[in-house]
Amino acid sequence: MGKLTYLSHSAWLIESGKHTIAIDPFLEGNPMAALKPANVKADFIVVTHAHGDHLGDAIPIAKASNGTIISNFEIVNYVTAQGAKGHPMHIGGAHEFPFGKVKLTPAWHGSSFPDGSYGGTPAGVVLSVEGKNIYHTGDTGLFSDMRLIGEMTPIDIFLVNIGDNFTMGIDDAVKAVEFVQPKLTIPMHYKTFDVIDVNPQEFVSKVKAKGFEVKLLEVGETLEF
Ligand code: NI
Ligand code: MN
Repeated sequence: MGKLTYLSHSAWLIESGKHTIAIDPFLEGNPMAALKPANVKADFIVVTHAHGDHLGDAIPIAKASNGTIISNFEIVNYVTAQGAKGHPMHIGGAHEFPFGKVKLTPAWHGSSFPDGSYGGTPAGVVLSVEGKNIYHTGDTGLFSDMRLIGEMTPIDIFLVNIGDNFTMGIDDAVKAVEFVQPKLTIPMHYKTFDVIDVNPQEFVSKVKAKGFEVKLLEVGETLEF
């Protein structure tokens, strides 16, 4: 049994029996976040790309928890230069960690650091934890190879961005669900800023109309899987 908690935006906490994994822990400066970085302890921190709303507080959380940042090669070079532990990977590669497997998937987006320096290629991530496969899209536009990701690894929980402007909007995210064929979909990356303030209920209705299971998680809400 694992636990998945929504920290708002694209930030999640996954608890397995023994380990805690944070994804894209953007808390400081995030108007939706209920937790401060000091309240988050994580053994591993997955960072999909270098933008400030995803790299977020990964470095201070990793340092305070003695945790390891899992990301692309360029981001791991950046965080290790600042004293955090890191494990570099890249698109298409998978690795077995103590909590389960991590595979980086493509994402159509950018990945510069807040200071403008190069953050490598943006990624999505498939995590296999407690026998379940969780696909976090990162920030991305729609691409039909999402179908391949779902074929190679049957997805139990699909964490998909719906906020539009920077990423897929609602209709493209519905098409992504049809490509991935997940058992359960949960939307993310909406409402945090005015420009991504879409109505998640519209997404829920449209996904249900296609015959897929979908759930909205409130900030701080936990789902057992
Ligand atoms: Ni981004
Ligand atoms: Mn973003």
